[in-house]
Amino acid sequence: MDKLTLRWFARDLDMRGNLVATALSDSLTDSETRGRKLQAIFDRAVQDERLVAIGWCSTSGQVVRRTARYPKDLGCEEAREIASRQEAAMEIEGGPVHVSYHPIVSEAGPVGDLVLMHDLSFIERRSQDTRKYLIILIAALGGAIALVTVVVAQLSWRGWVSGAQALLRGEGLLRPMLPPVPELAPLAADLRERLRDLEDEYRRMPRSDEGWSAERLQSLLRTQLRGDQVIVVSNREPYMHEKQPDGSLVVRRPASGLVTAVEPVMRACSGTWIAHGSGSGDRDAVDRHDHVALPPGENEYQLRRLWLTEEQEQGYYYGFANEGLWPLCHVAHVRPVFREQDWEHYRRVNQLFADAVVAEARSDDPVVLVQDYHFALLPAMVRRKLPRATILTFWHIPWPNPESFGICPWRSEILEGMLGSTILGFHTRFHCKNFIETVDRYLEARIEHEHSTISFGGAQTLVESYPISIEWPSPEEAREWPSPGECRAQVFERLGIPNSHRVAVGIDRFDYTKGILERLNAVERLLEKHPEWRERFTFVQVAAPSRGALEEYRSFRERIERAAERINLRFARPGQPVIHLLAQHHDHDQVTRLYRAADVCMVTSLHDGMNLVCKEFVAARDDERGVLILSRFAGAAREMPEALVVNPYHVEETADALHQALTMPAAEQRERMAALRSTVHEFNVFRWAGRMLTDAARLRLRQRVSDRVQRHSTVT
Ligand code: F6P
Repeated sequence: MDKLTLRWFARDLDMRGNLVATALSDSLTDSETRGRKLQAIFDRAVQDERLVAIGWCSTSGQVVRRTARYPKDLGCEEAREIASRQEAAMEIEGGPVHVSYHPIVSEAGPVGDLVLMHDLSFIERRSQDTRKYLIILIAALGGAIALVTVVVAQLSWRGWVSGAQALLRGEGLLRPMLPPVPELAPLAADLRERLRDLEDEYRRMPRSDEGWSAERLQSLLRTQLRGDQVIVVSNREPYMHEKQPDGSLVVRRPASGLVTAVEPVMRACSGTWIAHGSGSGDRDAVDRHDHVALPPGENEYQLRRLWLTEEQEQGYYYGFANEGLWPLCHVAHVRPVFREQDWEHYRRVNQLFADAVVAEARSDDPVVLVQDYHFALLPAMVRRKLPRATILTFWHIPWPNPESFGICPWRSEILEGMLGSTILGFHTRFHCKNFIETVDRYLEARIEHEHSTISFGGAQTLVESYPISIEWPSPEEAREWPSPGECRAQVFERLGIPNSHRVAVGIDRFDYTKGILERLNAVERLLEKHPEWRERFTFVQVAAPSRGALEEYRSFRERIERAAERINLRFARPGQPVIHLLAQHHDHDQVTRLYRAADVCMVTSLHDGMNLVCKEFVAARDDERGVLILSRFAGAAREMPEALVVNPYHVEETADALHQALTMPAAEQRERMAALRSTVHEFNVFRWAGRMLTDAARLRLRQRVSDRVQRHSTVT
């Protein structure tokens, strides 16, 4: 760079020298001026700061005039030689100079040669400046290049990541391979989607509906739903943290059929579960986003807890859900109560949960599983914010006939809210039929009975039955169980039951829909009709406290306690009650021991969506012994005809069934139990979830295809 600038400046100085020589040539060609004034002219000229020295060579090659700084020993020949070099530079006293040599010619011929010396030290200064700027420029360029490199690396990393994700989603490598020709873009997109459809069709080829397991459900989620996010919403949380008097936390599983069924599904999906945090220590167990990983120690999914005020819980949960919708749907001879302020709370809490779903969603089309009558309005609320979401609502309780439902003052709002769902599930076809008829009666909607769909507000809802179930115990879990003999010995000892007694059990929440009173009446009738069972029969009723804040539940409990007392007074020997009423929470392990110890299990619900106690009992009896008495008003009765199916309102019939159960030969017990076990084993909870999610995947595919058709028709 230095050499280059030196050459540029040498050229400039040559030009400048020519200009100076031209300016001086008049004076130099004039012989008179040359004689007298030349020195003065030269001295004036070198006052220009750039022009350092001037020498005048005679035609004979002698320096005849020179200014002060012209080197004394520099002859004309030498000066000409230096001027002819490329840089034309030399060192004189005071710094480097540029030398130029200019022959001066008059009309009469050559008059002499002018030697001009221009200052070159400024070049050194400029060169230093240039070097400084150059270094700054190179540093800046280096910085810019590094930045561009980082950005490009970032972008290509993202590209790789999304490419890999696309690959995992099964979109293949086509995206990066497609030419970036804009005209081909629609074709490429079409091709991609067609490939996806083909892939889906392949995956959806008819397969057996048997053999549902956690692994099969996981594979369904991976393949048909491409690993999409699953969000569950329920009121009841799967685990509650309770604060102990010493400040420590204990974890408890609430008594809830919903939790029993949904938790294994959630473990298979590794999704997010949103629920009301109702345990006394729940706030201490969550992180700052109100999340807690569950099950404790296994961390297979996330629970997001929502907090409700006392008024909200009172209005939404106790009020509208449990004093209004619960008796309304169960038609169990308890009058539904509808209050305006409960409805307001119900609406607001539904909105609160809907907002939480939107906040937890990582894409615009998550799969949202809405659980139960606590959230009838939520599907439409989520649909408004996430129109592409797949919303599966499962109604865990019965759906009444249109007349019964019609007494709800907000019936239209409830139906409209539920129709925000993509799929609406009930336990039985009968409940689906009731729902469709209710919509037909109260809304302007299009119903296609053939496909079991309802079109309302521009969207379509599939109404389908999915009988819920339990997770079939794994062989490892079953191996851990004490033998039925050991369970019997433990239970008998704990409750002081004489060894000679036969035992029947009932396991329920303390709820008026469970037919506990009718069951006690049947026991009383059995002892009246068959005195041989007196002092040979004990009935153990576990009744987990439930909704105790409601008067209806408190008075129901009192009625049961009075009935148990009455029967014990009539038939028990001192210290050996006929009825053991255990009104406490029992954990899964304790309940399993009771099932295995019992001769009979009584499920006599007056009306029940499904009832999972009967399925749990059957699953616990790997010895193929024990008899199940099952109410015909429980959804499970449709799947379990090998049970002794009874009308619990008919005391005589139930008492007879109890007698039949207690006297049933072992071979018959085995035959019935084996059939029941095979049904529950096959129709397990993974099948319940799997069928719903398969339908969801089918509808998602249909949605994609119709989106595409829509896109194309708008383009053309
Ligand atoms: O059957 C409906 C249901 O929500 C079930 O999940 C469960 O058996 C019961 O009601 C739970 O009641 P709660 O959550 O009010 O205690």
